[in-house]
Amino acid sequence: MKAIRYRTFGGPEVLEYVELPDPEPGPGDVLIETSAIGVNFPDIRERLGVYNRAETRVGGVTLPHVGGLQVVGRVLRSGPGADSALEGRKVMALMAKGAYAAKAVARAEMVVALDEDADDVAMASLPCQGVTAFLALQACATLRKGESVLVQGAAGGVGSLAVQIAKALGAGTVIGTASSDARREFVRSIGADHAIAYDRPDWPQKMLEHTDGRGVDVILETIGGDVFDQNFECLAMLGRCVVVGSTRGPGQPLAPRRLMAKAQSLSGMYLPSFFQRPELIQRALRFLADGMANGSIKANVAAVLPLSRTADAHGLLERREVQGIVVLDPSV
Ligand SMILES: NC(=O)c1ccc[n+]([C@@H]2O[C@H](COP(=O)([O-])OP(=O)(O)OC[C@H]3O[C@@H](n4cnc5c(N)ncnc54)[C@H](OP(=O)(O)O)[C@@H]3O)[C@@H](O)[C@H]2O)c1
Repeated sequence: MKAIRYRTFGGPEVLEYVELPDPEPGPGDVLIETSAIGVNFPDIRERLGVYNRAETRVGGVTLPHVGGLQVVGRVLRSGPGADSALEGRKVMALMAKGAYAAKAVARAEMVVALDEDADDVAMASLPCQGVTAFLALQACATLRKGESVLVQGAAGGVGSLAVQIAKALGAGTVIGTASSDARREFVRSIGADHAIAYDRPDWPQKMLEHTDGRGVDVILETIGGDVFDQNFECLAMLGRCVVVGSTRGPGQPLAPRRLMAKAQSLSGMYLPSFFQRPELIQRALRFLADGMANGSIKANVAAVLPLSRTADAHGLLERREVQGIVVLDPSV
């Protein structure tokens, strides 16, 4: 089968388009013939070797490596103990590695069957960012119907799905932050009630205005830096802040005492940890598939490139030349 592999860490040039033997599904696995493969920023960090530095080690990568975390395709075969009812079905899957290939192995527990008329490319854009957004809101923040939500970085991949998922979960007011007028317009266009700039020092004040002075119930935090601390100026009593990322760096440590006065909670979310809880991943994938089918969730695909041009796909993302997900087509 055709695949993208790298034997050393480095720039996009280390990605080789090669012929490899088909992978074998192990116990509990399924073998998927891929039709669309989504590219994520963590794929690039893995390729750079960032995940293998002692101070940032979060799982490690063994070379040579076939990267990639998400595919849509058709199940060819199930391994011992895996649900054989998936054989022949079109599916969406999240996996720890191996997606950049014409055939990929996934744990059957982290696969959901799709309708035959589901859009392969759109669905392949969803798993990593969509499951992250869903689990942060539902499993970590336990968002309840009618609660208000602030999504930091709402024009990004995780953020834009979080806005839509929050609404689909029955949130009340949903507010998103973004850095430019055009990106704030995009945030409103996907269903946010308000979009504000997080780089203005008075943004927490704006949040209080939009929530009648009581603050927001749930914050999905992705920015970091000074913004991390400012979140607590507009978090409501019993509010929950979930840290999903820190694109601007970690920011200052927070004194836990600060959470006491308003009985607030701070938690974190890291998707690979949830691989230990595949039933939660499957619930998230099901929610995304159903949301796409009923129109409550829309994908944001920026480009489709042949699998052989994965290096170009990484370059587009690294240079921030695209807004949305780049999807690879393994058939060309
Ligand atoms: N915890 C997990 O398991 C998990 C899983 C997936 C992603 N993440 C993290 O979640 C965050 C968002 O991921 P994503 O896939 O949605 O990325 P993305 O599509 O590139 O979005 C990044 C967002 O961050 C904002 N941003 C602020 N400062 C930035 C900077 N210096 N450079 C780049 N963007 C900046 C951007 O908004 P503006 O342009 O409007 O400022 C944009 O909305 C990242 O920190 C990522 O590492 C975490």
